[in-house]
Amino acid sequence: MAVSFDDERRVFFISTQNTSYQIRINEYGMLLHSYYGALVGKADMSYLIKEVDRGFSGNLYESADRRGLSPDTLPLEYGTYGSGDYRVSAIKTVLENGSRTLDLRYASHRIGHGRQAIRNLPYVRDDGRTDVLEIELEDRISGIRVILIYNVFEDKDIITRSARIINGSENSVSLIKAASMSMDIQNRHMDLIHFHGRHAMERITERSALGHGVYTVGSKRGQSSHHNNPFVILCDRHADENFGDCFGFMLMYSGNHAEEIELDQTGSVRVVSGISSEGFEWKLGAGESFDTPEVIMAYSGEGFNGLSHLYHRIIRENVCPARFRDKKRPVLINNWEGTYFDFTEKDILEIADAAADAGCGMLVLDDGWFGIRNNDKSGLGDWFVNKDKLPGGLKAIADHTGKLGMSFGLWIEPEMISEDSMLYREHPEWVLKDPDRDPVVARDQLVLNMSDHEVVDYLYGCISGILDSAEISYIKWDFNRSLANVYSSVTRADMQGEVSHSFVLGTYELLERIGAAYPDVMIEGCAGGGGRFDAGMLFYCPQIWCSDNTDAINRLIIQKGTSYGYPVCTMGSHVSISPNHQTGRETPLVTRAIVAMSGTFGYELDPRKLDDNEKNEIRQQIAIYERYCDLICNGRYYRLTGDEDEKCYTAWEIVAGDRSEALISIVVTDMKGNQELPFLKLKGLDPEASYVIDGVMSSAYELPGAAKDETEHADRVYMGKALMHGGLTLDPLYGQYPAMQLHLKNTVAKNDVMD
Ligand code: DGJ
Repeated sequence: MAVSFDDERRVFFISTQNTSYQIRINEYGMLLHSYYGALVGKADMSYLIKEVDRGFSGNLYESADRRGLSPDTLPLEYGTYGSGDYRVSAIKTVLENGSRTLDLRYASHRIGHGRQAIRNLPYVRDDGRTDVLEIELEDRISGIRVILIYNVFEDKDIITRSARIINGSENSVSLIKAASMSMDIQNRHMDLIHFHGRHAMERITERSALGHGVYTVGSKRGQSSHHNNPFVILCDRHADENFGDCFGFMLMYSGNHAEEIELDQTGSVRVVSGISSEGFEWKLGAGESFDTPEVIMAYSGEGFNGLSHLYHRIIRENVCPARFRDKKRPVLINNWEGTYFDFTEKDILEIADAAADAGCGMLVLDDGWFGIRNNDKSGLGDWFVNKDKLPGGLKAIADHTGKLGMSFGLWIEPEMISEDSMLYREHPEWVLKDPDRDPVVARDQLVLNMSDHEVVDYLYGCISGILDSAEISYIKWDFNRSLANVYSSVTRADMQGEVSHSFVLGTYELLERIGAAYPDVMIEGCAGGGGRFDAGMLFYCPQIWCSDNTDAINRLIIQKGTSYGYPVCTMGSHVSISPNHQTGRETPLVTRAIVAMSGTFGYELDPRKLDDNEKNEIRQQIAIYERYCDLICNGRYYRLTGDEDEKCYTAWEIVAGDRSEALISIVVTDMKGNQELPFLKLKGLDPEASYVIDGVMSSAYELPGAAKDETEHADRVYMGKALMHGGLTLDPLYGQYPAMQLHLKNTVAKNDVMD
């Protein structure tokens, strides 16, 4: 059992394979956080908790003579508002008499095996080995109770946290903040890493030293957002990709969120993660309860690569739908950047022919196939085929792709509506809109009220109608604006603060129902690219379109940032044409392919417009991807370069679970004359095994007049330990953004070491 309780010392011990987490109940029933970090077994770490008398940090009434015992300075397991803890709170309530004070003390606990699902929310799936700790806290005056829930995935070094808040009083209570977790990490000088961005430039890695005060990242856009991913890392000042302590906190939620990090007067760091309290107010009638989303926590003493491996594994194995875990993802062709809205049935069939000839396994028909949708100003909501464009309907396309041996996928954007649509003319009351104001428009569209069950039912009917009309094996589920005017016409005035969370629950319900009724249809998440790239969506959609930006050089930044928390198999990544449509930059086709191959691979162009050389190159790229796709999707991913190297080049590596093979990719981003050679220290290989380079894909540019560089690596045998300790110096690469992909093959395969 990964969880135990020492009755005498009143300490909870949680252990995973390599980590420990400890909580202590003090003599006043306060729940104190003693430790999270490397495995210490049953060593009681509560000696770390010091009672120091600090001015202006008050005491519990009953312990007034013990001035060091202050809710303001002790490490708490779930910070409350109003009872003398002045740091960021995890929970805030308003009682019927207007009181905002909450004082939570230990009431009971339960230790068990096998986790429970969280009502209406995504969660980390049980794999039959999960142990559970539930600690019930109670406010003795109001009767409000909070159950802190810890699910322990022992062999995966993952602990999840969530909270159930119960109104045990006879009156109604307003919940104005309900975070999933808080934790006080003692005496640490830490850096914060978070992943910020914007549309078409998501999840840029930013690292900053924590200063005193509160640092908040989050979103109040109704979506987890392009702007701040719901994932943060706290690490030692000196931690890097391979060394040092780091802690990850990933919220499994797709709506408004906040990650608040406070360095307090004592030098302790508080992390609070959960639904954002901005605009949030949830009414709890007597006996009612509220469940928060789950936070996935991980600790690694082996730097960021170590932390990423923990997240990659839990997401792949316990978050994404199990039925897609080992299913090979087809190489797809998507027509968006090839045609935008301007296509006919003939165009789509020809694109399918050309893509099938190159070896693509699936055709995805993007935006523009339905309603009056010839641009982005109209048609959303009218989910029936535009017969002017596609006289044979979806069936004609699906039948055609079927004959070509390809599957067929389709774009939809269910949660949105155009004012210029039949649906809006029929149901103007179905949108989120303040009754007395004009709504904020974005991309000329409004947002449907997903908190209204009638809307969710209607959308279920539309989507199932589409899926029943033809052989469709994939949906790209888009979401192209942020929420504003969050007001529901079917909700009581005093409950409008619930709408943004209920919106997310409505979307989850729809995804759940579609997944249950059409289990073989794979849903790829999308929100104008990666505006909802989070573990909540990954619970329903095993892959998410990473960004609307397909520029290979920008993608290095976006995919690297994404890789800290999310595995390669979740990242939708396509080759588009050059010059790139988002940046105007020109890059070689091989570079675009090498970058896109570290994701769920596809093409986003009009294959009819390629010349014969390009067609041949693409045919070879697809063949290479087919050869390595198992390694790419299931291998262990390492970022090989840091800030210094990345002034010139970015490199990464994917190693098979049994270390029998590895794929190394490098892209030169800044070309210098008489260049320093790219130098890489490889990771994760079998030190005692010998490897040969048995596959090279690279830019072919040669300097005029220069002696030809020999590929001296070919046919040479390298020991794993040589490549990891001594490294590999690559031959110079020349030209515009050149790239190289090397495949290493171990001559003797070892047993699986992923576990
Ligand atoms: C935004 C998506 O990210 C694009 O790939 C494309 O599907 C457009 N929407 C279509 O409107």
